[in-house]
Order: sequence, then C-alpha cells, then structure tokens
Amino acid sequence: MSLAPLARIPKAELHLHIEGTLEPELAFELAARNGVTLPYADTEALRQAYLFDDLQSFLDLYYALMAVLLTEDDFADLADAYLARAAEQGVRHAEIFFDPQAHMARGVGMGTVVEGLTRALARSEERHGISTKLIMCFLRDQSAESAMETLRAAEPYLDRIVGVGLDSAEVGNPASKFREVYAAAGELGLRKVAHAGEEGDPSYVWEALDVLGVERVDHGLRSMEDPKLVERLVRDRVPLTLCPLSNVRLRTIDVLEDHPLRAMMDAGLLCTVNSDDPAYFGGYVGDTFHAVHEALGIDPERVRQLARNSFEASFLDGSEEDEAR
Ligand code: HPA
Ligand code: ZN
Repeated sequence: MSLAPLARIPKAELHLHIEGTLEPELAFELAARNGVTLPYADTEALRQAYLFDDLQSFLDLYYALMAVLLTEDDFADLADAYLARAAEQGVRHAEIFFDPQAHMARGVGMGTVVEGLTRALARSEERHGISTKLIMCFLRDQSAESAMETLRAAEPYLDRIVGVGLDSAEVGNPASKFREVYAAAGELGLRKVAHAGEEGDPSYVWEALDVLGVERVDHGLRSMEDPKLVERLVRDRVPLTLCPLSNVRLRTIDVLEDHPLRAMMDAGLLCTVNSDDPAYFGGYVGDTFHAVHEALGIDPERVRQLARNSFEASFLDGSEEDEAR
C-alpha cells in the first residue's frame, strides 16, 4: 500500500516501544518457533482483543504477548521488522525504548535482549537507511530497588544505550519514586526521558522535570491543563513526544478530532508526533502524520514543522542530525 506524500516526510521517531511493534503475525511465528502456546486461536482472534479501556488494559496484553520473545534472534527479528516498516514510513532516525524488567522477570537476561536488539540496530543504516539509538525504560509500577538493579545489570552494555526512560502504569507511580536511579543514570552519562502526563495530571510532568531532570517528556498530553507548566516547557524548549493514535486507543481522548496537538503547537510547545506501540494502536508514525493532517487539519507546512521538530528533539548531535535529515 503506498502512503500519502505527507506520511513519507523524512522524520525521526522518538517514542516507540520495540515490544509494541510485535504484530500478530510475528507473535504467532515466534510462538511456533519457541513452542509457546498463545491463548488466541489465530491472528484474527488476537486482533479482536485490541479493544482497550485504558492504559492498564493495554499493558496487560502487551506484557502477556512478550511470552514469545525468548532468544537473541527473536529480539533481532522484532527490531528488524519494525525498522523495515519504519523505513516505508519515512523514518530516518529512531530512538527506541525497550523494557528489560518485563523480560528479566521471565528469565530472559539483559544480555539476550540487548545483544538481539543491537544486532538489528547495527545493520539498520545499511539495510533500512535509519540511524538508531536505544533507550532503556524502567517500569514505574515496579519498585525503585528493581529499577536500580536493572541499571546495574545494564552497565556492561552502556556503550549501546543512550539513555533511560520510565513507562508502564503512571497514576499512583510518580516520578519522585525514581529520583535516586535517575541520579545514578545521570552519573553514568545517560540521557533522561520519562513518560509523564499521559494519564497522570500535570504534577507528574513537573516531577519528571524537577525531580528526575528529564530533557524530553514522553506524551506530556495533559500539560495544557496547567498554564505555568506550559510556560516552563516553552521557555526551556522541552520536547514532548506526543502519540495521538495511542491517546485515542487508550481512551485518554475520545476521538482524534479532540486531540490538543494544534493548541499545543499554537502555545509554542516543541511538539513531536510518534507511534508509541504501533502494532496495537492502528498505525505507524507516517500513518500518524497523515491522520493528524486529516483529522486535525494540520496543514502541510505544520506537518513539515513536526518533522523538523523530531530531529531537533532527538539525541542526534549536529552533524548526525544533518546526515539523518
Ligand atoms: N504508556 C506507558 N507505558 C507503556 C506504553 C504507554 O503507552 N507503551 C508501552 N509501555
Ligand atoms: Zn509510550
């Protein structure tokens, strides 16, 4: 299927959970390869389960399907499949999240995950024309101690990990719980991002900024509820990695037409548009660019602005950025 020209604009994808790119077809292929039985008859039955009420109902399925990811080859195949699709969608650079705790809890080691993913990432420029960086996320519904153990387990691989993030169930798990582990990550030279203001109120975004010292906020959707927060984000040019299709599927907003993206751009926020978990949310990032154009009337010049923002908000340095564009 050929994509509309606006969907194919060269862009960076900055909010993408690699486990959220597991398409039903690959899930069944890996299940067969690994002798894992999925509780769904076929890919169609699995797709029928993609009706979510909120973030938690999605996370339950997202973690359950990870049961098929066991070997380095599985992680390499997963990442390679994402990169192939991303290339078709105009992605030139991807900063990719992974959730090591969700794998380590199943007995899959940090080394298996990182070696597998980075095998695909290492050949991505040559195969897909996409440069990449890897961001390790802590699960915020797990303890601070578990996050610190995860950081320690990642130390042998830090040459391949650019930064840390924070994801999973937000409400009731404020950023302040992870103050120490973010400080330790900073001392190791890692960049810092965190999910905030997806389902949580603006206080979650303030904590990500002031307690964790993040350079970029993942989602930040609810920031508009607090004018002082908007002022701060605009003043410091803190990028937001918005994921409009995710917000609709997880029912943070009713319909795409209600998404505050336009108002956020009008307010001077450094907005980017991303796919989050594209296998589950009905579109990859190019599809998302097209969808905001259609549903929100974001005109082509502003769509191009979103693409420029994605490079500015990335962790590429100046010369890398020029190459990726
Ligand atoms: N929000 C929080 N945690 C996540 C998400 C999300 O959209 N996707 C995968 N983990
Ligand atoms: Zn996310």
